[in-house]
Amino acid sequence: MLLRVENIHKSYGAAEILKGVSFDMAPGQSKVIMGPSGTGKSTLLRCINHLTPPDKGRIFVDGEELTAKNLNTMRQKVAFVFQDFNLFTHLRTVENVAIGPRKLRGFGKKAALDLAYKELERVGLSDRADAYPAELSGGQQQRASIARALAMEPKLILFDEPTSALDPELTGEVVSVMNKLASEGMTMLVVSHEIGFARKAADEIIFMEGGKIIEQGPPSQIFNAPQQDRTRAFLNVIEHGDDA
Ligand SMILES: Nc1ncnc2c1ncn2[C@@H]1O[C@H](COP(=O)(O)OP(=O)(O)OP(=O)(O)O)[C@@H](O)[C@H]1O
Ligand SMILES: [Mg+2]
Repeated sequence: MLLRVENIHKSYGAAEILKGVSFDMAPGQSKVIMGPSGTGKSTLLRCINHLTPPDKGRIFVDGEELTAKNLNTMRQKVAFVFQDFNLFTHLRTVENVAIGPRKLRGFGKKAALDLAYKELERVGLSDRADAYPAELSGGQQQRASIARALAMEPKLILFDEPTSALDPELTGEVVSVMNKLASEGMTMLVVSHEIGFARKAADEIIFMEGGKIIEQGPPSQIFNAPQQDRTRAFLNVIEHGDDA
């Protein structure tokens, strides 16, 4: 297994947010996590790369347990794409992408820039390499942040609602980059209610509620024949356009 998530628990104060979450991902798989707001989806992603350390439970990446000691090496294997892009505003797009290889992977300046141009090409942004983030659309900024993740040549990319800060007309370009990465065999764990990506690219949908996985299965099963009433009710809302 490329990722093993084993019995993760996390509380904030007295509130238990994650109540024992476990699942595995094989190399090349894409999984989509869905579920109501406040259910612990972001907390789970943050626990997976120890942006927020779990209180209990274990994470294995590529067979190796993630601990406080190997955090930096492991974070190079697990990239994170945030909802609000998190690009450095004072750096040009290509420098945003090159900085990870330069600072964390020991690349020289030229090698880091070469890699950054290559990854920008993968996300269709070669022509905007010299622009600053403020000069990019939201969709372009998110594609730049995906290129930044790719430049770490990670084993796994975690995405936390990568399209939810975007205007609807800009989500398509980000979803199509994500579809392409999935079809190229990238392992991706994606918190998103983007049905297009979930149906087309996900091997499995994980449905969470109240800090637990309440249902999981292939998209055909989850979308066409959900077993749980709560999954069905939630999907009804997101598929029929109400605010989810
Ligand atoms: N740093 C924190 N300190 C205290 N409580 C937190 C913290 N981060 C998250 N929480 C709480 O944990 C719960 C789960 O939050 P989380 O962000 O994981 O939910 P989510 O499923 O990602 O929701 P959304 O769909 O709105 O993004 C919420 O009640 C939230 O207020
Ligand atoms: Mg969230």
